[in-house]
Amino acid sequence: MSNNQNRAVDSNRRNLLIATSVAGGVGGVATLVPFVSSLEPSERAKAGGAPVEADISGLKPGEKMTVSWRGLPVWIVRRTPEELASLSKVTAELADPDSKETFSYPMPDYAKNEFRTRVEHKDLLVVVGVCTHLGCIPSGPYQAKTLPALGNDPGFLCPCHGSTYDMSGRVFKNKPAPKNLDVPRFMFVSDTKIVIGKDEKGEA
Ligand code: FES
Repeated sequence: MSNNQNRAVDSNRRNLLIATSVAGGVGGVATLVPFVSSLEPSERAKAGGAPVEADISGLKPGEKMTVSWRGLPVWIVRRTPEELASLSKVTAELADPDSKETFSYPMPDYAKNEFRTRVEHKDLLVVVGVCTHLGCIPSGPYQAKTLPALGNDPGFLCPCHGSTYDMSGRVFKNKPAPKNLDVPRFMFVSDTKIVIGKDEKGEA
């Protein structure tokens, strides 16, 4: 039983952002019980922090909520039909529309689509809200035509150096940020609740 110190996982950039935080402890028990190792969280997962649950029952179309996972702000965004429709329109303007490059976490297979989420819940975007340039927190979502930096598109804006992201967290071309926002592992545990940091394959 111990508190895990939050650690940046791969990127030093995150160290600029991440304050220490505390997640539920899972360490200490494993040495006592000879569980099947494949069912246990990896060492990396245990070091990083436990998965967190989020109740999304009150999240309405166009709204965003933020939960803390491993000290990172994870956005959960309920996209409107208009925001979803914008995704295919902006493809040519994006640096990496198919998310071939990943930032700090590998892209889950179920998020390898333009919605970058589980297609059976394609309105629900789950991304780490940390700019891939130097770790500022972007603002948004902004509706279409409400922010000059985004032109006619809806999306997110990083206030530090002007990187813009579409409604799937994909960075636009010719911006300081080199990569799309991370999609963490997540899964539904009920119709109204998701868990972040874990999916059918285990913990991140
Ligand atoms: S930190 Fe976001 S654009 Fe520089």
